[in-house]
Amino acid sequence: MTGASGAQYGLRLLEFLLQNGHRVYLLMSRPAQVVVNMETEHRLPGRASEIQAYFSDLYSAQPGQLQVFEREQWAAPIASGSGVADATVVCPCTTGTLSAIACGSSRNLIERAADVCLKERKKLILVVRETPFSEIHLENMLKLARMGVIIMPANPGFYQRPTSVQELVDFMVARVLDHLNIPHRLLPRWGDALQVE
Ligand SMILES: Cc1cc2nc3c(=O)[nH]c(=O)nc-3n(C[C@H](O)[C@H](O)[C@H](O)COP(=O)(O)O)c2cc1C
Repeated sequence: MTGASGAQYGLRLLEFLLQNGHRVYLLMSRPAQVVVNMETEHRLPGRASEIQAYFSDLYSAQPGQLQVFEREQWAAPIASGSGVADATVVCPCTTGTLSAIACGSSRNLIERAADVCLKERKKLILVVRETPFSEIHLENMLKLARMGVIIMPANPGFYQRPTSVQELVDFMVARVLDHLNIPHRLLPRWGDALQVE
């Protein structure tokens, strides 16, 4: 998670993955923690071990199911190609982290994990949040899309006639899960249960 608006998207994805038996490595930038505290009811502690305990308890994770790493914990498995995850999702993704990934900076563990994912040809999904996009943002997204990165701007649809913020959040999380090939029932499929008058 990075410090773009839309912390709810990342938290809902985390909740879904943990409650459906997936193993998750969570990395949060410092701005992401600030945004979580501003946009949600959560008051996150500062250290990775405390955040791990907080979310494990909140989402009833099994022991070892969730691991949270510090920003410069270079011994974490995901810092190396030999420990790369099946897929990496940056959700929400700032334009700053988008830029760092596009030029391979690897100056913190989030950037490094994404860089490893790219070099190992693993799935990388960026839920970018900004509006409007500058030419720099668009060029960075195009560069990464051409490498196979899935650029998925936080941009929910309204055709399911949402009546709550939760439904809008679930829309985005559902689309991310689709690209992770994880079954879910967060959103009716296009053509199923959609009424056209
Ligand atoms: C409440 C809040 C909302 C923000 N929203 C966005 C946003 O939607 N998109 C974005 O690119 N940056 C946003 N920012 C700015 C980033 O947090 C800032 O550029 C930060 O340096 C990004 O660092 P990170 O990518 O390591 O998280 C926001 C900051 C705050 C405090």
